[in-house]
Amino acid sequence: MITPILMLGAGRMGGAMIEGWLAAGAFEGRELMIRDPFPGPAAIAAVQAGAVLNPPDGDLAQAATVVLAVKPQMWREAAAEFAPWLSSGAVIVSIAAGVKAADIAKAFGGRCVARVMPTTAAAIGRGTASLYADEPAALARAHALFEPLGAVVALTDENLMHAATAVSGSSPAYLYAFIEALEAAGVAAGLTPKDAQRLARSTLTGAAALLAHSGEDPAELRRQVTSPGGTTQAALDVLLADGALPELMREAVVAAVRRSKELGV
Ligand SMILES: NC(=O)c1ccc[n+]([C@@H]2O[C@H](COP(=O)([O-])OP(=O)(O)OC[C@H]3O[C@@H](n4cnc5c(N)ncnc54)[C@H](OP(=O)(O)O)[C@@H]3O)[C@@H](O)[C@H]2O)c1
Repeated sequence: MITPILMLGAGRMGGAMIEGWLAAGAFEGRELMIRDPFPGPAAIAAVQAGAVLNPPDGDLAQAATVVLAVKPQMWREAAAEFAPWLSSGAVIVSIAAGVKAADIAKAFGGRCVARVMPTTAAAIGRGTASLYADEPAALARAHALFEPLGAVVALTDENLMHAATAVSGSSPAYLYAFIEALEAAGVAAGLTPKDAQRLARSTLTGAAALLAHSGEDPAELRRQVTSPGGTTQAALDVLLADGALPELMREAVVAAVRRSKELGV
């Protein structure tokens, strides 16, 4: 049994998972229980679909799967609050960045734990989830939860969750920052803000969709749109001069890995 699923926290990420499940028909509202002191729109929509919001402590033992989706700084507090009420067979699925499976298992009374680093595009079935669990049963549970929400990558070494967090969990923000910078550069080049926004957003989401659709390597797609001596080449000469962009990306990933390790301490 995978359900009932108890969501501990239904903020941005927990809410995106709930939205994705309901949109995909992966789980029905009545299979979800949500504990959140300030429920957001996703939790409220789930309640309209039959989910139970803020069930009493005594009902939490019904949960077969418990998703730990509070902020990483809050996870110990949440574990202390809820662990005593859960059934001994409940599987804990944690999406807390950096926090080790063994620490979560300990705080949840030795229950089986899977770790997942998801992304908020789960809300539209286009998420990406990195999974890790010591035990096959916990890994299978994480697969069952995240397969309906997009792509899933199972890692064989828990230490790689730091790198997966840097390359996946955190990286939608890198792309959004890139788009913001491109829009600002477009305005600096004379476009109206409205046109710069439309051009940058539509072009880059289209390019990402083409990458997904074509199955080509990004390097090949880049070559296809870069005529020697042309305008694209002129811009890439700046972005890639002396490895500027790869070096910046390496440093960004190193910083995210470092922070992920700090959060786990
Ligand atoms: N956002 C992302 O893109 C993303 C991606 C991958 C992983 N994650 C992970 O997902 C986790 C949640 O992040 P988030 O961005 O979704 O944070 P968030 O929007 O702040 O959501 C956390 C939710 O949990 C609630 N909460 C706090 N303490 C609680 C408690 N004791 N019992 C029940 N609910 C409680 C919060 O309520 P209040 O509003 O009262 O604080 C909030 O609604 C983090 O561990 C993060 O590392 C996030």
